[in-house]
Amino acid sequence: MKAKTLLFAIVTLLITNTQIMAQNNGKRILVAYFSATGTTARAAEKLADITGGECYAITPARSYTSADLNWNDRRSRSSVEMNDPKSRPALAGKKLDVAAYDVIFIGYPIWWNLAPRVINTFIENHDLKGKTIVPFATSGGSGIDHSVKSLKAEYPELNWAEGKLLNSLGEASIRQWAERVAPGVK
Ligand SMILES: Cc1cc2nc3c(=O)[nH]c(=O)nc-3n(C[C@H](O)[C@H](O)[C@H](O)COP(=O)(O)O)c2cc1C
Repeated sequence: MKAKTLLFAIVTLLITNTQIMAQNNGKRILVAYFSATGTTARAAEKLADITGGECYAITPARSYTSADLNWNDRRSRSSVEMNDPKSRPALAGKKLDVAAYDVIFIGYPIWWNLAPRVINTFIENHDLKGKTIVPFATSGGSGIDHSVKSLKAEYPELNWAEGKLLNSLGEASIRQWAERVAPGVK
């Protein structure tokens, strides 16, 4: 009886897993994001919901205080980092196993029209070659294009797909774009 129950559980698990894989056209999707004040995190969760991807928070070893984020202060941590193209804030936690994913969305808040330097740390610490990398961002009004251009120039070896600013974007437009960059998502 116990063996039967176990067999039933295994078969159910296999079927469910196959169904999930089918929904994503066999593509395994990761939605990795950095968010200092929660806006990009909310966009990432929405995106993961829509695409059936897994959410992963890119977490700096030292989190950003509001003083760190003060763009009016030339000496604040964010100002100093963004003024230094070589700055690579350390990450917390252990390295993520990206081998398991085919499509990796990378989300961030626009800082000084760029991706925060911790995004560079994440990209350089993981082997992203051969994967589809899809940038997305939130901002106070700036577009995403300048930050994407910069990332593409810094990492030309990566396979970049069309990026998207997700500021108050509705589900239908997010889904349309996700379908374009990763055909067959959910
Ligand atoms: C240091 C810093 C620099 C910023 N620079 C810009 C910018 O250049 N253009 C813009 O539209 N918004 C800028 N913002 C606003 C953020 O992009 C926006 O509030 C974003 O949605 C925050 O996301 P988060 O809550 O995930 O951190 C900046 C914010 C900070 C803290």
